[in-house]
Amino acid sequence: MPEIVPVLSGDHLSSPASFHDPLHAAWGDAEWWRSSVIYQVYPRSFRDSNGDGTGDLPGVLAELDHLAELSVDAVWLSPFYPSPHRDGGYDVADYCDVDPMFGTLADFDALVAGADRLGIRIIVDLVPNHCSSEHALFQAALAAPEGSPERSMFIFSDGRGAGGDEPPNNWQSHFGGPAWTRVTAPDGSPGQWYLHLFDSSQPDFNWDNPAVREEFERVLRFWLDRGVSGFRVDVAHALIKAKGLPDWGGRADGGSTEGFPGSDAPMFGQEEVHAIYRRWRGILDEYDGDRILCAEASIDPLPRLTDWVRPDEMHQAFNFAYLHHPWDAHSLRHVISTSLTAFDAVDAPTTWVLSNHDVVRHASRFGLPEGAPRGGDGIGRFDAQPDTAIGLARARAASLAMFALPGGIYLYQGEELGLPDHTAMPDDARKDPTFGRTEGERLGRDGCRVPLPWLADTPTFGFAANHSGAPHETPTPWLPQPEGWSGYARDRQTEDPSSTLSLYRTALQLRRDLRLGAGSLSWSREYETTDAVAFLNGEVLVVLNMGEFAIPLPPGAIIVSSTPEEMEAGETRMLPPNACVWLIHSTDSAFVATPE
Ligand code: NOJ
Repeated sequence: MPEIVPVLSGDHLSSPASFHDPLHAAWGDAEWWRSSVIYQVYPRSFRDSNGDGTGDLPGVLAELDHLAELSVDAVWLSPFYPSPHRDGGYDVADYCDVDPMFGTLADFDALVAGADRLGIRIIVDLVPNHCSSEHALFQAALAAPEGSPERSMFIFSDGRGAGGDEPPNNWQSHFGGPAWTRVTAPDGSPGQWYLHLFDSSQPDFNWDNPAVREEFERVLRFWLDRGVSGFRVDVAHALIKAKGLPDWGGRADGGSTEGFPGSDAPMFGQEEVHAIYRRWRGILDEYDGDRILCAEASIDPLPRLTDWVRPDEMHQAFNFAYLHHPWDAHSLRHVISTSLTAFDAVDAPTTWVLSNHDVVRHASRFGLPEGAPRGGDGIGRFDAQPDTAIGLARARAASLAMFALPGGIYLYQGEELGLPDHTAMPDDARKDPTFGRTEGERLGRDGCRVPLPWLADTPTFGFAANHSGAPHETPTPWLPQPEGWSGYARDRQTEDPSSTLSLYRTALQLRRDLRLGAGSLSWSREYETTDAVAFLNGEVLVVLNMGEFAIPLPPGAIIVSSTPEEMEAGETRMLPPNACVWLIHSTDSAFVATPE
């Protein structure tokens, strides 16, 4: 790989004829979160330091060097709070502590300090829409009479029909089945119903009650005082429900369907929710260190989502429209253009994300046969299986193209290894409540949450430490790892220059050095085709081939490529299908490229 010396003055931009006018202008030296790379750790599956089969906070601390090698600015920790884990920790029983399964508050503090030494920030997951039914506040509500202040922390309501036997409205849970559960009064008689947009063990808070707002401001300060750099806010569009809780015939997740546009969903995107985030923004701004809020809000279309990132609200919002783009050049160009235009209009960065703990990993998604379902419901033994080689090639290409986009990047643990989903998990190993609540019709998200492989030739692929010293005593990971994952193990990839890990390291280092995250984007007139996406950021020309045939490569030195295939053969350099390259594109010598 040539050594690149960037010159970012912008005086020597290439001929306007070759490129459309910049769709997005560079930011220069802006706040860190406008161009950040944030790595999501799902603690239960990252690294198990004590050999109980479950990842933990000391495990994250022990492996931080690996994250520093990926040039990440921050780590987002999925929930590690005390929880019965009916929904992977998104059922929080205590917002201000660490589940013993993951360690202690002292372990958390040590992690923040260790990360800080490496220049990595820690962001935690805040789950304000609902808690666990084991939370003290919900237990108090159950024990208190109807109409009490304790009950008004949640959304309790009388049922409809004779004897109140029917739920108060027709809302459905995200995980299947009704969104209401009836409680039993202390004398054994049937009582009121409580709302849960997710599992019945996740009662929704009543955000119209100022006491709920005060409680969460306390939680925010608790973690801000402990040094976190911000919060990823779970279902940030759901906190306020429409007055009167009207029936809704549309999708449970608020996605638009014929006759039911998501903008009408009474449980999502209510205007009053924004006052909460304005208040939170004010709290974060009281603290030093440029701390951030990131909205997890499934809101479409994109211009509506940008309401969450107006200047006095959150800093970032996950771009799910981008995450869900199919393997198709036209769709990808469209979602990139729409995103940059929409977020620029409110002066917020666009985020880019391809995988997380709720969706099939992109190395599997992009390998699925045409027409196979691609959503968040998992792939099972009896489903069409992804083509692993195509999936991996496309995942590497898609990631490389993403790393050159201006804005914030989110990575999901294991994608740097090219990890696929576990697509043949036995049913009895599944933990996602979706599986049980739909009687197996929807498989759920366990396939993307499997413990990571660290060491190829070790039991549990090095995920779980074996402290007993007895070779036969192998810890059992909380979710089974597929056989044959040794090729993905980190130690196998570390020294291999063609590995996915090496690609991520190289490309993310270049992204940082060339300041691509704070850069610009102009679509190429010359190199764009039906199947090829081509854009310029600064002086890096990115070409992504999403078609079935090789395409000619533009001139210019290749900085990094997603494919191990030779491109220099013959007179014309060709970019194979399912591959992406970054080239130096400059009309003068602004870049000095020194071949090794
Ligand atoms: C979104 C989280 O990412 C998901 O894992 C969780 O099940 C739901 N919110 C409910 O908290």
